[in-house]
Amino acid sequence: MPRRLLVTHALPYANGPLHLGHMLGYIQSDIWVRAQRMMGSEVYFVAADDAHGTPIMLAAEKAGVSPEAFIATMRASHEADFADFHFSYDNYYTTHSEENRELASLIYTRLRDAGYIARRSIQQLFDPEKLMFLPDRYIKGTCPNCGTHDQYGDNCENCGATYAPTDLINPYSVMSGATPVLRDSEHYFFELGKFESLLRDWFAGKLTHGERVADAGVVAKLMEWLDGGLKDWDISRDAPYFGFPIPDAPGKFFYVWLDAPVGYLASFKALCDRTGLKFDDFLAPDSDAEMHHFIGKDIINFHGLFWPAMLHGAKFRTPTALHVNGYLTVNGAKMSKSRGTFIQARTYLDSGLHPEFLRYYFATMLSDTPVDVDLDLKAFEERVNSHLIGKWVNIASRTAGFVHKFFEGRLAAQFSEEQNELWRVLISHYEGVPALYEGGEFAEAMRRFVLIADLVNGHIAAKAPWVMAKDESQRDELHQVCSFSLAAFRLLAGLLKPVLPATVAAAEQFLAAPIADFDSACATLHNHTIRSFEPLLARIDFKHIEAMVEASKESLGSTPEPTTPKKPAKKENKNMTDNAPTATAESNIIGIDDFSKLDLRVGKVLACEFVDGSDKLLRFELDAGPLGKRQIFSGIRAAYGEPEKLIGRNVVFIANLAPRKMRFGLSEGMILSAGDGGNDLFLLDADQGAKPGATVR
Ligand code: MSP
Ligand code: ZN
Repeated sequence: MPRRLLVTHALPYANGPLHLGHMLGYIQSDIWVRAQRMMGSEVYFVAADDAHGTPIMLAAEKAGVSPEAFIATMRASHEADFADFHFSYDNYYTTHSEENRELASLIYTRLRDAGYIARRSIQQLFDPEKLMFLPDRYIKGTCPNCGTHDQYGDNCENCGATYAPTDLINPYSVMSGATPVLRDSEHYFFELGKFESLLRDWFAGKLTHGERVADAGVVAKLMEWLDGGLKDWDISRDAPYFGFPIPDAPGKFFYVWLDAPVGYLASFKALCDRTGLKFDDFLAPDSDAEMHHFIGKDIINFHGLFWPAMLHGAKFRTPTALHVNGYLTVNGAKMSKSRGTFIQARTYLDSGLHPEFLRYYFATMLSDTPVDVDLDLKAFEERVNSHLIGKWVNIASRTAGFVHKFFEGRLAAQFSEEQNELWRVLISHYEGVPALYEGGEFAEAMRRFVLIADLVNGHIAAKAPWVMAKDESQRDELHQVCSFSLAAFRLLAGLLKPVLPATVAAAEQFLAAPIADFDSACATLHNHTIRSFEPLLARIDFKHIEAMVEASKESLGSTPEPTTPKKPAKKENKNMTDNAPTATAESNIIGIDDFSKLDLRVGKVLACEFVDGSDKLLRFELDAGPLGKRQIFSGIRAAYGEPEKLIGRNVVFIANLAPRKMRFGLSEGMILSAGDGGNDLFLLDADQGAKPGATVR
């Protein structure tokens, strides 16, 4: 009986595009799944978008669309990214599905009936204008510890103190600016404390035939939380909320983290319904199938405490294992929008970088422990070029031609004695590879790849087939060197297959020898006929990486342009100017008519503040006299570190610029400043007496 595995990765929130940080753990899961399939396991790999919660509800509102429409767009974007990075799901779904509604309700009802749900009234901050309870992140105020302004309701970014939102001095709602008030509300709680002994058993591997359920450090962390005492978990939220209503509680919704992991099961359920697989075979308490979750280190409490307890309490099986990844840094630092290292998956692809290069780089960095992984862009270029092209593809490109030229594409009937010896060495390094994949030790597997490739390249260099080819008397030896090299090239293709699925598929085509599993890659290919060789991969040109970083730099806080197919317009323009009179300095001269198209005005600054989530922008509110009030975002934060000091002064702005929708709101014009950018920027002023809204000519 093959092992039967249900594998999931953490569900991305449907509130933004995927970035390379997401891709780290996701790629890890896809590599593992593909390796499992090559080892003969029966694997079902499912995921979904995590579509509920306050941030998504508010993002949809801001975009002026229904939450359903909003999450549908996000899901399409995620699915396109996953497909283009060669993910091999059996089903990709959404938590906003009928299956999930039913399963979440079923789990809740079972927990309730078994006596694991408590109800009690709590006091929470309420926005009297927006008429909703405020999650901690939607309340700001002055830190009670150090006095820094504009700190979130849960912790201070300046001094690191954690506190309750009610501790903030002068709290205000991020949404309306109103002062929140305390209100009572009845909440539903999952009584996690009742599962302490279950969790201890699960940590100890007692529910998994002694197999450990997570990396030792992760288990230690979970144990620490458990030893500190398990608190009841608040699983309800009040309307308005985008989520599932709690069946027996009008106006109450499941907190997003209640139905999110249930989304794994819902995605699998949809797969079962489509294919006839039996859901219970995998989810019943006595199931001998395995359930593996790949997650990032920030969400282990949900998966290592609440989730196993919920499953067990609702009479489902508990997870077999959690595979936890660390965080991604880029060039040794946290991903940053201003440095252009907060890179979206789509931006990577649009820059012309091969998706499997990122898969390979991550594979060389991943082990079984959740340590942070750095994407060093220079190392990325060098490693991919050196390993994949220099060490692997080159084996084939230096030998396949001779096989076609002199031997009609047919490989030799046998290896030489020396080659038999070397082959045994290669196989001895290769043999442990499936176990390395199994254990999540991808970096070690990739080291084996390099080791084997170096031995093969050493053999080629020593024999110098390009020299032999000039000497008719050395044909047999030439044949053997090339044949051996191509068999070894295929062995390496087998090793790389989980990491580079499409590239290896092309290699299988060229070799006319499919690689079904790890063992079949060990064939010596004697007398086998290959097809003609096409270059499998092109080297990375650092220009593409630079373009990616450039494209990721936040320009004036706008979200990057939606990726539409490149319009031919540019090209046409170019052709047109080729025939048109050559551009001269004169073309920079404009007539008075051009100037008069600009409606320049004086604005008096009513409000000026930092913009959450942008390190470039300031938000201005201007009094534009007869034109009314204007909100304008201006990218001058670096030059004006104390925005409140600008309040009351005059600025000059373009009043008839088409309004621009930004991530943070509508920008209705552009404020003029002089200088080169960065902190070299100076706002224009108007002398005393100029009235708000006055025309600038
Ligand atoms: N929706 C929840 C997960 C629900 S699972 C039932 C969530 N979503 S997320 O979009 O914020 O994150 C999705 C995954 O990406 C998580 O595993 C998270 O740890 C991972 N990462 C997000 N940013 C990351 C990095 N910068 N680096 C590595 N992983 C990161 O959490
Ligand atoms: Zn503080």
